[in-house]
Amino acid sequence: MILAVTGNDLDRAKETLVKGELVAIPTETVYGLAGNALDEKAVLSIFEVKNRPAFDPLIIHTDSVEKVMQYVSDFPEKARRLAENFWPGPLTLLLPKKTVIPDLVTSGLDSVAVRIPNHPILLDLLGRLDFPLAAPSANPFGYISPTNAMHVNAQLGDKIPYILDGGESSVGIESTIVGFENNETIIYRLGGLAVDDIEQVIGKVTLMPNSSSDPKAPGMLKSHYAPRKAFFLRNKVISENGNEQTGYLLFDKYLEGVNIENQRVLSFNANMQEAAHNLFAYLRELDTLPVEKIIAERVPAYSLGLAINDRLQRAAAH
Ligand code: TXA
Ligand code: MG
Repeated sequence: MILAVTGNDLDRAKETLVKGELVAIPTETVYGLAGNALDEKAVLSIFEVKNRPAFDPLIIHTDSVEKVMQYVSDFPEKARRLAENFWPGPLTLLLPKKTVIPDLVTSGLDSVAVRIPNHPILLDLLGRLDFPLAAPSANPFGYISPTNAMHVNAQLGDKIPYILDGGESSVGIESTIVGFENNETIIYRLGGLAVDDIEQVIGKVTLMPNSSSDPKAPGMLKSHYAPRKAFFLRNKVISENGNEQTGYLLFDKYLEGVNIENQRVLSFNANMQEAAHNLFAYLRELDTLPVEKIIAERVPAYSLGLAINDRLQRAAAH
């Protein structure tokens, strides 16, 4: 397999995007597979490279609220307060779209998902572009999201010309998606910005991370983020007697009596940020071990633990 060129050449990244080709980009959440959001052909190739169904809409990325205003027709007060507090950062807002955003980007929906990511190299690139970047996570549809350039190269390297390397994604889990309907604030996807932090700024929100496989509920597909190995989620993990064929994903300590090479511990300090940061990389590692199945344990359900459990749940729904 021929791998993509990987580097930190912003001129090259820009030229490639201006030509309508795709570039994998670093963000603080996960790596994205980016193309010019205003160029339908570029957007179409994102769906092709990812093997993503057309009913699953894309997030657009830009570097300032002024630019966001060119793409959305309304920016409600609560959305503004969230943007002021959490952009750049792991927050995606669903806002009514202007017609410059192709229907292909939003899968025909009237709203567009927008985010200002918090990554210095990417912000520099976005500042040089006069179009926003449509970018889903840079993994084949349904698989684990990539949190470094090697993850991207391993899976999509033969399909894209350039990977902009910005090191490891610090947050490690996708953005929290927030929408606004009839005065209600709705969380459509749990993610790297904790619900508590959002509620401190705008008060109570409604959780609606849809667990449907219904195309009318795009993006919140029940089965997602899945390793290739058989994957099981448990409230509490106990070792399966002398079984060398099982890999374990644990919250804060090793299981006794099991080869530690087959175990990954998300955070020995029970730190949720660290656990989120390690989640996808450890899932990938377990997926490449010579084990037949992976057993994960649910993490405590607070702060980013809610988003971690959401991803584990979807991985287990395969
Ligand atoms: O952190 C992130 O959000 C990463 C980085 C690259 O920014 N991106 C990401 O994109 O996770 P993706 O495509 O893997 O997930 C985007 C989600 C999908 O579940 C999609 O259905 C939802 O956003 N989405 C996009 N536009 C939407 C819309 N107009 N209404 C409802 N959901 C939408
Ligand atoms: Mg994704």
